[in-house]
Amino acid sequence: MESKSPHIPVLLDEVVQEFIINSDINLNEKIYFIDATLGYGGHSEKILESSPNIHLIGIDRDIEAINFSKKRFEKFGNRVTFLHGTFAENIEKTIEIAENNKIIAILADIGVSSLQLDQMERGFSFDSPNLDMRMNRNDELTAYRVINNYSEYKLEQIFKDLGEIRNSKKIANSIVNSRPINSGSELSKLIEKINGRWNGTHPATQIFQAIRIEVNGELNQLDSFMNKIRDLAKNNKLNNTKIGIITFHSLEDRIVKDKFKNWEKSCICPPEAMRCVCGDNHSLGEIITKKPIVPTEKEIYINRRSRSAKLRLFKINK
Ligand SMILES: C[S@@+](CC[C@H](N)C(=O)[O-])C[C@H]1O[C@@H](n2cnc3c(N)ncnc32)[C@H](O)[C@@H]1O
Repeated sequence: MESKSPHIPVLLDEVVQEFIINSDINLNEKIYFIDATLGYGGHSEKILESSPNIHLIGIDRDIEAINFSKKRFEKFGNRVTFLHGTFAENIEKTIEIAENNKIIAILADIGVSSLQLDQMERGFSFDSPNLDMRMNRNDELTAYRVINNYSEYKLEQIFKDLGEIRNSKKIANSIVNSRPINSGSELSKLIEKINGRWNGTHPATQIFQAIRIEVNGELNQLDSFMNKIRDLAKNNKLNNTKIGIITFHSLEDRIVKDKFKNWEKSCICPPEAMRCVCGDNHSLGEIITKKPIVPTEKEIYINRRSRSAKLRLFKINK
């Protein structure tokens, strides 16, 4: 495997700025940083380089990403712990691993890596020779099964809900009538016929996004991960911890924005309540980014895949 990273980390300077430079952390004590989407370690490497007292727990559901980062991080010795699996199923484990040391941050850079997109046999690409799209190749659900086995109605719903696609009914119908569809390239050509040719982005972009989100249960993952963080904070297992989430489409960004808003609320009485009966002491901390941090024009010019990235931050502070 090549040692150069196959993925350019997005908002790298901003991540270092927010988590290390603009932070009140004590770099003279042993502290933990959780990278919930380790990938090829671009963000984590910079974080680890900023102090020898920073220990890292890196989670990824893709074993190829874990193996790549294991090699890349040999130089950091035992400062790094790797967890293979989803962030939703692993986030609680990080508390045990960190023992009584402070967890200063949890970062999730959600979505697919460039290597996943570019490796044709992973089936994420418009030119793929197959339909796969699993981030963890041990999972059962593949893009092939979604495209060839789901009912027309279910496909339509997925395209509407996860791709925000206007002509989802027409596309679902064409897919069902063209079965079996065996590859990403067959599927993208079919969508191209319906949606017309390129208009800056590929006409099948949102369809591929919707299928990928379905195959990997991405919205449920994010929801469950954030609920677990909230519960850990409520139970005083996390404090003075910065949570940073980078998303790449509006569905995920909405989940993050809404959850952070709820976490910040001190009063959790229903809106129809005449007066507060909840004790008005439920805030888990504060939203750091009233507006999300987005890439500069220069970053977008260098790395076009960064163009839709949004970083939102919350500081748990009870
Ligand atoms: C955009 S890449 C992260 C890149 C990384 N920040 C870097 O600089 O190399 C996203 C990574 O998150 C992983 N991933 C996505 N959803 C996940 C989940 N629910 N649980 C664990 N890993 C996930 C993917 O397998 C992928 O490797």
